[in-house]
Amino acid sequence: MKIDVLLGLQWGDEGKGKVVDVLTPHYDVVARFQGGPNAGHTLEFEGQKYVLRSIPSGIFQGDKVNIIGNGVVLDPALFKAEAEALEASGHPLKERLHISKKAHLILPTHRLLDAAYEAAKGDAKVGTTGKGIGPTYTDKISRNGIRVGDILHDFDKKYAQAKARHEQILKSLNFEYDLTEAEKAWFEGIEYLKQFHLVDSEHEVNRLLAEGKSVLCEGAQGTMLDIDFGSYPFVTSSNTVCAGACTGLGVAPNKIGDVYGIFKAYCTRVGAGPFPTELFDETGKTIRDLGHEYGAVTGRERRCGWIDLVALKYAVMVDGVTRLIMMKSDVLDGFDTIKACVAYRVNGEEIDYFPFDIAEGVEPVYVELPGWKTDMTRMTSEDEFPEEFNAYLTFLEEQLGVPIKIVSVGPDREQTIVRYTEE
Ligand code: GDP
Ligand code: IMO
Ligand code: MG
Repeated sequence: MKIDVLLGLQWGDEGKGKVVDVLTPHYDVVARFQGGPNAGHTLEFEGQKYVLRSIPSGIFQGDKVNIIGNGVVLDPALFKAEAEALEASGHPLKERLHISKKAHLILPTHRLLDAAYEAAKGDAKVGTTGKGIGPTYTDKISRNGIRVGDILHDFDKKYAQAKARHEQILKSLNFEYDLTEAEKAWFEGIEYLKQFHLVDSEHEVNRLLAEGKSVLCEGAQGTMLDIDFGSYPFVTSSNTVCAGACTGLGVAPNKIGDVYGIFKAYCTRVGAGPFPTELFDETGKTIRDLGHEYGAVTGRERRCGWIDLVALKYAVMVDGVTRLIMMKSDVLDGFDTIKACVAYRVNGEEIDYFPFDIAEGVEPVYVELPGWKTDMTRMTSEDEFPEEFNAYLTFLEEQLGVPIKIVSVGPDREQTIVRYTEE
């Protein structure tokens, strides 16, 4: 069997959690391969709403195996809180959730370093989620990290060494802090972690594939936040692109099957950094209000704008997307016309490819399409789609060169329409 990968194509928050939950019945295994509690994946069903941060979104659908892969960074204290809340709401997970021993641990001092580095950057700050993501991946790459498997051997010494190193840096940055509470919760999280199946996920995933089991990989963040291909330096610290699933789980590139690319019918971004199609006017505000565009983790206002097909085409290319999924169509229900950015104007010249830098002087070139002016939220089949909506889908498919196979028309699991059009 091959593994399918689901990836955000924009700046995150495309609706990955919702769709992974919807697709899970078709798979035996759901796995996260990068990121950590910077993610906030929202699922809604049977009148309940859940926000997952480190736990894969396949946890609610029957007895599926859920895996946290080696590419993920894990904060034991946040993980404990998340897992205990799920268990308390009637979703036991200890037997179903397997965690890679090679996943790296976010230490309390990593969170402090995240805050200290951001403060030191002043106006140039990234606007991180403050979860210690960057410093943890920095330690991983510089060969100073502590991994989940380390909690089983000689752990106190490793922790003390890492903490001392971090404290030296914090001191040099004149950063004041009190670790007492955070450290207590963190060590409780470490003890809690020991109750889970700690595995070599590369062996596990490859064995499951060899046994004919189907695996869905759940991306976090989005392609425009990728450490290599995103709007650097305003990015996260992991490879959010499709290749990240290979390194973040230990599967070979020739094991990748379908790549689901997920995007909103418009575009949002949270945190700092360039965003060519951002709207600063009433339209942007309307999209934010109608789409409830506030961060699932931080509650921060998300910046809103029109869909950017230059950036989306780039994402489709680097991810090798085979199927597209369009989310939050309903948010545009009331608009007379809808804009789509098809090119950038840079120094008076029009370009249709994603350039090295989008930080300055990039102006979007738009085409305008008629709105559908229809309540999409109650639709159950593509046969009900209004003409203008179909025209928008066809336009996007032509621009991106990949079929749109799923359309989401509301936050609930049920508000999801599969399209059966010929490929
Ligand atoms: P993720 O990080 O990609 O999983 O996305 P988030 O959960 O951070 O943000 C997506 C938000 O949009 C959540 O509040 C979802 O409940 C909501 N949502 C998902 N799909 C739809 C949709 O089709 N329509 C509307 N109106 N909301 C949606
Ligand atoms: P999901 O999985 C949206 C953004 C932060 C910041 C930058 C770096 O829910 O789509 P970090 O804490 O990772 O060092 O922050 O990346 N960011 C996200 N934006 N959705 C996310 O995750 C994000 N995870 C990180 O706002 O700009
Ligand atoms: Mg999110």
